[in-house]
Amino acid sequence: MRVAKAVVPAAGLGTRFLPATKAQPKEMLPVVDRPAIHYIAEEIDACGIRDLLIVTGRGKRAIEDHFDRAIELERLLQKTGNPRLREVQRLLDRLQVFYVRQGTPRGLGHAIACAERHVDREDFAVLLPDDLYISPRPALAQLISVAEQLDAPVVAVVPVPPEDISRYGVVAVGEEIQPGVFRVLDMVEKPQAEDAPSHLGVVGRYVLPPEIFAHLRHTKPGAGGEIQLTDALRALCRERPLYAVTVAGERYDIGEPLGLLRAQISFALQRPDLRQGVVELLREVTQVSDTF
Ligand code: G1P
Repeated sequence: MRVAKAVVPAAGLGTRFLPATKAQPKEMLPVVDRPAIHYIAEEIDACGIRDLLIVTGRGKRAIEDHFDRAIELERLLQKTGNPRLREVQRLLDRLQVFYVRQGTPRGLGHAIACAERHVDREDFAVLLPDDLYISPRPALAQLISVAEQLDAPVVAVVPVPPEDISRYGVVAVGEEIQPGVFRVLDMVEKPQAEDAPSHLGVVGRYVLPPEIFAHLRHTKPGAGGEIQLTDALRALCRERPLYAVTVAGERYDIGEPLGLLRAQISFALQRPDLRQGVVELLREVTQVSDTF
């Protein structure tokens, strides 16, 4: 496998964050001082990928504005300079960002199918912007290493407690062929805890071959009445080996408010300029809330 393109589905309606997402994309909600999708672009850049396709929809224009120049701001800040704005520009010098719109949100599988023309006959990475990582090596880089070494598609997984398993695509795995890498035998999208084939949930990073598009074309609506990427992967793993990689690092599910809050605190604690302030703040607010 050789990965030179990344696809980020960002057409979801973000209903869990209403009313914050009534007039802005959920991918633009801030984690400290960057929109969530910015961390995804940084992860892609850190893997040396230069081609990013974002699958958007109505109401998502702020994403395009974010990955564009901001001439007025640049002019205004020309004198003093702004390191963080320059940082975004440097990222954009390396990354070319393309867009395709998913007219109707019909599920993750359908969103990925919208990328077919752009991806063409190449291997590609998929990153779900609801999943952020703090890890010694970028989560996607960990997947790409395994995909290159085994010359096979891979999905990221983490152990999930039984009470949460019904929110995930879940893999049935064979032997652990190397530490943290399992052959995938089957997959099921959002099973009930008693039907889950394992405790390993798929978490937002995939390295896929172009054959996935043919499987997506034949995929009927599944869990939640949506076209599921998991169902196309299920067909793929019957045709060629697919592997699940347990990602080393901490994963944050920012698709729901408490997960976003957890990510905001943890990402701020990673920042040398903010760490001390956050520690003090947490001490202060926990004391204050105790008094109520
Ligand atoms: C999607 C996928 C699911 C995966 C999850 C977390 O579900 O369909 O297989 O486990 O992301 O990455 P969603 O959370 O969009 O419902």
